[in-house]
Amino acid sequence: MSCPVGRERDDEEGKGLHYLEYLKIPELLNLQQPLSKSAENPNGVHDEHLFILMHQVYELWFKQILHELDSIMNIMTADFLDESLMLVINSRTSRIVVILKIVVEQIKVLETMTPLDFLDFRHYLSQSSGFQSLQFRILECKLGIRDDLRISYGGSTYKSAFSDDRHRSAAEQLEQATKNPSFLTLVDRWLARTPGLDGEFQFFDKYSKAVREMLAEMKDEAKKETSLSIRNRKLKDHETQTKFFKQLMDVEEHASLVEKGQRRLSHKATQGALMVALYRDEPRFQPAYHFISSLMDIDSLLMQWRNNHSLFVQRILGDKMGTGGSSGYRYLRSTVSDRYKVFLDFFNLSSYIIPRWHIPKLTSEMKDTLGAYFTADGEKRRAGGGESHHSGAEKD
Ligand code: HEM
Repeated sequence: MSCPVGRERDDEEGKGLHYLEYLKIPELLNLQQPLSKSAENPNGVHDEHLFILMHQVYELWFKQILHELDSIMNIMTADFLDESLMLVINSRTSRIVVILKIVVEQIKVLETMTPLDFLDFRHYLSQSSGFQSLQFRILECKLGIRDDLRISYGGSTYKSAFSDDRHRSAAEQLEQATKNPSFLTLVDRWLARTPGLDGEFQFFDKYSKAVREMLAEMKDEAKKETSLSIRNRKLKDHETQTKFFKQLMDVEEHASLVEKGQRRLSHKATQGALMVALYRDEPRFQPAYHFISSLMDIDSLLMQWRNNHSLFVQRILGDKMGTGGSSGYRYLRSTVSDRYKVFLDFFNLSSYIIPRWHIPKLTSEMKDTLGAYFTADGEKRRAGGGESHHSGAEKD
């Protein structure tokens, strides 16, 4: 290697570290060992090599994703988040998103394998199945998929894949991942601390008032409509929206939705997310908004992965059972569901976004709190040069 690390590692003969040793390439290339290999067929069944290699590539990407996620969670575990670290958090979250995009696409390589070719070696797999991917389960648990929302099959849970003595260490790692606060919990705690929820500004009171005004306006507009069919449609729309907003305004109703698994975030964190979404142009909220968008990307991409994998399994297995004992395609298809979306609330948030002209104005104190100020010619100036029209400071 030509990097400084290589030079430090020069051996007695002055030879630097070699690419092959640093990256352990011989060991890596020796890890694909088709079970179909035999004296008569030393390379094994042709497609088994691809099958093994593809799984290993996925596992390596899962490893890198967990590496990034652990570091983000470490930063977010603190009682308060040093906002200068938002750049690191956002870069690493974006990296997870880019990896997931590759992971989603990569199934296309496996799709070149036909059902007939797969059957040439499937019997060697015995009961081994992606259902036993420890890293995938750790990732799901760390992100915060709720156990009670998972789809089980034949009374088995994902934990049963590691219940025998041989996999005690795997079971322990999984247990640890479920015990620690999940990424979702850390995101919840962070959002619940959003500036402006408490103190002088009291965002949610102002927002609730704005919603009531907006709904009253909607109703007035509907009543003015001369066409009966349009009026009825508008009144119906008003009724649905009123019901919807009530779910957000009523803390107890929100708690019951959390209980049922239809909401994941606490009420306070939901308020925080809403505030970030509405005032996203404010300098301090910009990185937070970016972060929330990336979290939705993670959910969308994992959902795409589940979808692509289940379609692929249907293509290659039809309605046959999986080697892990599930119904195969039908089980996998049922996991392509909101039950498996960790950041579901961010998707739902769009229902509560109100038009710009209804968004409560920020007070000058809030502008100060959320703005990035710098001094030029002895004057305090606002970064960005001006007020955005929906979040201009309230005239006190
Ligand atoms: C020929 C290729 C593949 C087939 C036929 C296949 C089939 C299946 C089936 C039938 C299941 C359901 C569990 C079972 O009964 O076994 C499953 C689960 C799973 N597979 Fe695959 N799979 C393939 C490739 C892959 C690859 C490349 C990965 C990447 C790591 C993967 C990861 C998983 C995971 C993580 C699960 C658990 C999903 C869940 O429970 O939500 N599979 N697979």
